[in-house]
Amino acid sequence: MNDAAPNAAPQTFYLKDYKPFGYEVESVKLTFQLSPNATKVHSAIRFTPKADAEDNRFFLHGEQLSLISAKIDGTPVTARLVDGGLECDVPRRSFLWEAEVEIDPAADTALEGLYMSNGMYCTQCEAEGFRKITYYPDRPDVMSTFTVRIEGNEPVMLSNGNPTGAGEGWAEWHDPWPKPAYLFALVAGDLVNHPGSFTTKSGKDVELNIWVRPGDEGKCAFGMEALKKSMKWDEDVYGLEYDLDLFNIVAVDDFNMGAMENKGLNIFNSSCVLASPETSTDANFERIEAIIAHEYFHNWTGNRITCRDWFQLCLKEGLTVFRDAQFTADMRSEPVKRIEDVIALRARQFPEDGGPLAHPPRPEEFQEINNFYTATVYEKGAEVIGMLKRLVGDDNYYKALNLYFERHDGQACTIEDWLKVFEDATGRDLSQFKLWYSQAGTPRVKVSEEYADGTYTLTFEQSTPPTPGQPEKAPRVIPMAVGLLSPNGDEVRATEVLELTEAKQSFTFDGLASKPVPSILREFSAPVILERETTNSERAFLLAHDTDPFNRWEAGNALAKEVRVAMVLDGTAPDAAYLDALEKLVRDDEQDPAFRALVLSPPSQSDIAQTLHERGHTPDPQKIYDAAETFTQTLAQQLETSLPRLYAATTVEGPYVPDADGAGKRALNSRILSLLTRLDGGEQAARQYASADNMTQQYAALAALMKAEKGEAQSQAFFEQWQDDRLVMDKWFALQIACAAPEATAATAKELTQHPLFSMKNPNRFRAVMGALAGNHAGFHHASGAGYQLLAENLIALDSVNPQTTARMCAAFQTWKRYDSKRQAQIQTELERILATSGLSRDTHEMVSRMLSA
Ligand code: BES
Ligand code: ZN
Repeated sequence: MNDAAPNAAPQTFYLKDYKPFGYEVESVKLTFQLSPNATKVHSAIRFTPKADAEDNRFFLHGEQLSLISAKIDGTPVTARLVDGGLECDVPRRSFLWEAEVEIDPAADTALEGLYMSNGMYCTQCEAEGFRKITYYPDRPDVMSTFTVRIEGNEPVMLSNGNPTGAGEGWAEWHDPWPKPAYLFALVAGDLVNHPGSFTTKSGKDVELNIWVRPGDEGKCAFGMEALKKSMKWDEDVYGLEYDLDLFNIVAVDDFNMGAMENKGLNIFNSSCVLASPETSTDANFERIEAIIAHEYFHNWTGNRITCRDWFQLCLKEGLTVFRDAQFTADMRSEPVKRIEDVIALRARQFPEDGGPLAHPPRPEEFQEINNFYTATVYEKGAEVIGMLKRLVGDDNYYKALNLYFERHDGQACTIEDWLKVFEDATGRDLSQFKLWYSQAGTPRVKVSEEYADGTYTLTFEQSTPPTPGQPEKAPRVIPMAVGLLSPNGDEVRATEVLELTEAKQSFTFDGLASKPVPSILREFSAPVILERETTNSERAFLLAHDTDPFNRWEAGNALAKEVRVAMVLDGTAPDAAYLDALEKLVRDDEQDPAFRALVLSPPSQSDIAQTLHERGHTPDPQKIYDAAETFTQTLAQQLETSLPRLYAATTVEGPYVPDADGAGKRALNSRILSLLTRLDGGEQAARQYASADNMTQQYAALAALMKAEKGEAQSQAFFEQWQDDRLVMDKWFALQIACAAPEATAATAKELTQHPLFSMKNPNRFRAVMGALAGNHAGFHHASGAGYQLLAENLIALDSVNPQTTARMCAAFQTWKRYDSKRQAQIQTELERILATSGLSRDTHEMVSRMLSA
């Protein structure tokens, strides 16, 4: 055992310190003798010193391993155990390293390395989990072929690549593609498969399987179809074909993340693959389709071409998120996907970029890499690629990607390699564009306009507030998609991408008969905050007339924010013109139901808090809550006479199909039901609850009732019906907290932590409860401080069980400096309490210190 003393100054890793490993790893052979508390791992690894190595220190990572023996070329050697691994004197020629270690999978509650979930053996090696399996150069730029032998009595024993032999008590696997250790996987247990197949464009038959625990077979069909669609899409759009004869997916109940792209053996959190109409909502189906695609797409963007080091994480994650978003847009609705992504970006990434945890998409230092799987690396990383595509155009984008795959297949790459293919494919200089990868913070773009003699001028001024470690920022390249509308609503200038490169810059449009109405930042062409003086009537005009669907929604969203901000700051009543505009839109059957549902969904309370903060106000969570309540109640009353008819008209009849069309209609119908429930005492929702034959409608009815405090009987019935289904029970836990009134939120959450089905060991269940607490804005930030206290207590308790999930959930406190001094003091007390916990993990220590030091 060599766990670092956690509260001592932890080691920081720097991008600038990168040095290649001094040895080639020619091949890796692993033998596992499975046993819950004492699994033996034998490794046989052929190393060859690199002739040109600057450093030939032979250091292998290793954590929580008991070393039994080590040999070089068959002769026992003595290795020196050092912090985080071992060192050994080795020959200056090719040699075979063999080690035997013992590990304790059943004790591994961190869910990293080899662990157990419901009696099943399972691995998670990204980012640095392989070092908990055996001694190895556990870094992504060390790639090798793996041969694996599993010995044990499990009915199913899987690893990467292709099966090469099996018998009573053993199975062997070989993966012909060199890979870094973080893509290694092993699964063994009592599993059943849902089979499928896919023929690639060059005619190769690939066997597909989704492996699940007995009883879950009925929840695999949707995931299998999503996998086939993903395989086809990647061939059609990127020309990328699958490269093994077998592709396995395994569902596991205890998993820190959503899913993992291990070569040929993807491992999924069961919540991200198991689906059935009775147990999954439309949102679940959409997420499952996207995540299956995401992990599959990693086979090329991540596995065939991987990252040189973990600072380059967005090379694979940003690109793969970008690709999965393209896929979802193609499978479903492009504007709806874009709107959903921008809502998520503003909810998750903007607060990160504007707070103590801000970091660039390619960070330059970290203590614990698991803390950098962030909205910035993922979502902003994907936005940066979207901007690049917009700047070079579609044809050049695919030209550059072809060059990327051709040039770098089999390599471990950097952001420099990535940008170079774009430069070489297009002849463009991307040195200024590269600032997006190194500068943190969300740029603000101030827009002003002028119109004289038929010429319209738009002036843009960009600036980025300071972020930790980066007081000054240089101007970036910002693609600004702009269109112009005439006052009668016609588009007089189609979308054009203006390229901002300077701190202040103007663009002119000639030959305009009258002053146009600008539609700026169409499709949300850059992840920036636009600041522009405008009127609500202009926003209403764009909501009605803009040809860009994203900006039509954005106009409605901006209008909604203005109304709500005014309600909070001045106590004004909801703007009547806005309510009229909403009413018109809701009744307009010409419009896409999914779009209407989005416009009818008001900005979240934390979004209003974020907006107030951006404008220099201190958000008062209770006032924001009250304004939201008043607004929704007023909207319901405004629509009173038409709600029953609208509800009936938008109800989807017939058997449930989880497609985008049906989902859009159900989303609108659910919005209407929640408004109706405020007026009819819950009659309609109770009827819907009683008759629903799918989770989307059952859940929508339950949520509407619980929000109106009329759902006690249904909540009880829901529990009785679903208590044996873990994933549905996660919904039940979360919903009670999400629907609780501010003053009751912490108490409700606390009570649920006492429930027999609550568990610290299952990340989904912990997140269902604590995530819902942090997500209930007014409840979490209630003046009593009870929400802060409860979260902190539970994070402290979780830290010794599962540091990774603890550290991620600490981010709930990242917006603390936005609030008033009393709340800040309360949060500071909790953060300091966490930091003072003895034996605190490196993960949590890093997150809390960053939040406190800003
Ligand atoms: N490679 C990650 C999974 C991962 C993340 C492993 C962090 C270890 C540490 C995987 O490809 C991923 O990104 N999963 C996302 C979902 C995806 C749709 C963005 C996840 O798990 O949330
Ligand atoms: Zn990923």
